[in-house]
Amino acid sequence: MKIIVCENYEEMSKAGADIIAGLLKEKPDCVLGLATGSTPVGMYKDLIAMYEAGEISFDRVTSYNLDEYYPIEPTHEQSYRYFMNQNLFDHVNIDKAKTFVPNGLTKDPETEGPAYDAAIEAAGGVDLQVLGIGQNGHIGFNEPDDALIAGTHVTDLTDNTIEANSRFFASKADVPTRAFTMGIGSIMKAKKIILLANGENKHAAVAQMLHDRITTQCPATILKAHPDVVLICDKKALNG
Ligand code: F6R
Repeated sequence: MKIIVCENYEEMSKAGADIIAGLLKEKPDCVLGLATGSTPVGMYKDLIAMYEAGEISFDRVTSYNLDEYYPIEPTHEQSYRYFMNQNLFDHVNIDKAKTFVPNGLTKDPETEGPAYDAAIEAAGGVDLQVLGIGQNGHIGFNEPDDALIAGTHVTDLTDNTIEANSRFFASKADVPTRAFTMGIGSIMKAKKIILLANGENKHAAVAQMLHDRITTQCPATILKAHPDVVLICDKKALNG
């Protein structure tokens, strides 16, 4: 795993945006795998600024998001579809018809997951997957467990994740307890992965990812088995 150590959040965001911008220039019709959460917001802002400066274009890009609460309306302010529209899609020239987020309203979650993976395959696979990391080492919503699932599926969120995400909701009781997530196999199929992490509260998870053996109790450790992962982090996430 390559590591880019940054002084602060701004530098981390810029480093992530530069890698995505490089791919957009090299392969304008690339497939991006995108993440939500607090961590990538600055990177999306930088990408918007680069787009506004005429440096990059999203007009031929296809995107697949990692996860979505289930069930949730796409118009709900905490849905990941809403997040992506607000934080990136509404501000760049991406064709929204080519932006995909798991359907948080599907009546048929059993078929939604495999269909999502099949659509990614049909689009040529993810060229670049953006990841954050949970304080418990989750990637997407693949939570620590005795076993991990390969494909996109609905999962129960752990109390740790519900607690961490309650900052976005009126109360903890309002946080959905389930979510769609790309599975570990779906994530590992991406040709390249960048994982962004900042802040001391991510240090334990980052240290475990880097130094522990691969374990389902810290799903991010599996990334060590991927040939092209770049960890972009600040010093606090790396060193505590
Ligand atoms: C978001 C996602 C999650 C987050 C992780 C970190 O799409 O898949 O794994 O990346 O929970 O969240 P933040 O960035 O809010 O600390």
